[in-house]
Amino acid sequence: MLHRFHKMSAVVIVAFILLHLLNHLFALQGISEHIQFMDKLRVIYRNAVAESLLLLCVLFQVGSGVYFAWKRRGQRRGFFEKAQVISGLYLAYFFLNHVGAVIYGRWWLGLDTNIYYGIAGFHTDPFQFYFVPYYFFAVVAVFVHIAAALHWLTRNTLGEKARKWLSVLVIVLGVLVSNILMDAFCGVFYDVEIPEEYSAIYRQMVQ
Ligand code: HEM
Repeated sequence: MLHRFHKMSAVVIVAFILLHLLNHLFALQGISEHIQFMDKLRVIYRNAVAESLLLLCVLFQVGSGVYFAWKRRGQRRGFFEKAQVISGLYLAYFFLNHVGAVIYGRWWLGLDTNIYYGIAGFHTDPFQFYFVPYYFFAVVAVFVHIAAALHWLTRNTLGEKARKWLSVLVIVLGVLVSNILMDAFCGVFYDVEIPEEYSAIYRQMVQ
């Protein structure tokens, strides 16, 4: 029963994450393109019903995922079973921090939590040493988690070799996508100027 809900809530979260990552890919064009696309997407996920459902699913996913990891501790065999629990635990850590930060930024600081809010830490020394790996591994963890799930779901339909290659391909794609996103956010393709109200959050911490 709990497993079935974990899968159902994963569908809601994966649908959001795919849109969210697609949104981030707009940063390859420019920050204003990213913001324009986010404004369109917000119509879908930033209404009371959709956002409450998403946040409930995130909380449930973290809780049930940590419970499964604990219950089956020491029993996982093979690369994909271990990769599933490691990526899942990282995602639980990331989700709580990331969603917590978005809520804090919006409701406590009263900021528009657009991409400037998301990546201000990339451009305020020394926070880049935390935020670049933090986001890089989050995107990779999403793809690793999906790859491990695919490996399990195709156990009766694909041969061993095909299942392995499909999952490895998904992980490689994840590393590439994450790498290119981090490059864009770090300002490799064009200069990124973070507005004062966003960088001030970090500068206050080191002053
Ligand atoms: C690639 C780096 C990422 C950046 C820079 C980033 C940035 C952001 C920003 C700026 C928001 C606020 C959106 C808004 O105000 O409309 C947000 C929301 C959110 N992000 Fe990310 N994100 C990243 C990756 C991820 C990943 C990998 C996940 C999932 C594992 C994720 C899950 C979420 C969730 C659940 C929300 C909350 C949506 C809401 O309630 O409004 N993000 N992110």
